[in-house]
Amino acid sequence: MGMERKEWFAEWFDSKYYHILYKNRNHQEAEAFLSKLISFLKPNLSDTIIDLACGKGRHSIFLNKLGYNVTGIDLSANSINEASIFANDNLKFEIADLRNLPYNNAFEIGLNLFTSFGYFESDEVNMEVFSQFNKILKPNGIILVDFLNASKVYTQTKFVESKVIEGIHFQINKKIENKRVIKTIEFNDNGSRNFYIESVQLLELSDFEKLIEHSDFNLLHVFGNYNLEPYNQESSDRLIIVAKKTA
Ligand SMILES: C[S@@+](CC[C@H](N)C(=O)[O-])C[C@H]1O[C@@H](n2cnc3c(N)ncnc32)[C@H](O)[C@@H]1O
Repeated sequence: MGMERKEWFAEWFDSKYYHILYKNRNHQEAEAFLSKLISFLKPNLSDTIIDLACGKGRHSIFLNKLGYNVTGIDLSANSINEASIFANDNLKFEIADLRNLPYNNAFEIGLNLFTSFGYFESDEVNMEVFSQFNKILKPNGIILVDFLNASKVYTQTKFVESKVIEGIHFQINKKIENKRVIKTIEFNDNGSRNFYIESVQLLELSDFEKLIEHSDFNLLHVFGNYNLEPYNQESSDRLIIVAKKTA
């Protein structure tokens, strides 16, 4: 009998290797994006923000430094443990699943940042997650989802990559299959062969429009990059949607 593996996202994001592979993430860009977003959304300092799939909390920690009351949730216990080092009266971290969030009518703003959506296998689950986003927000609450621009992914040609980070030789293969971008990540560490997968559904703006409509949100804005410039299907780096809770 083989050992059952967990869902890929429960396993990969909770591993130390995910954090090693992506350790050169651009923090300045993330902070500039948040500053831009705050000047655009103009939340009151009394507003509460939830960072939905916060990882180790880089966005939550920065928003809290700006004076906001922030809760970060993530499925990865290891990431939440690390984030919790920075917790204070106005900054909380909790392990929670996007598919079943333990809050009701609790936040003015929900942020789902850096492609933390599209992991699930069915439209029903995507819909359920958006219903959860709706449930946890206060009336007129705002949800922002920062996702990849699917059209651009289809035109990318780099399908094989090899990287050495902290002495680990990662071999990454990427393919597009059934409207998903699927990466396999292989490497040796401590004498054993490791294999992980990333599989993200190539959701388009029209898919998000449906999710928004079915979960009682109104689409307010669609941006195409962290500078909050308008979205363009061919050329934008990101698909960033902002919607308001209607019911
Ligand atoms: C690409 S990372 C981004 C993390 C963080 N937003 C950042 O920008 O650093 C995606 C995150 O989604 C989390 N995640 C995946 N599935 C989840 C789920 N069902 N519920 C909550 N978090 C989940 C992962 O554990 C991981 O931390």
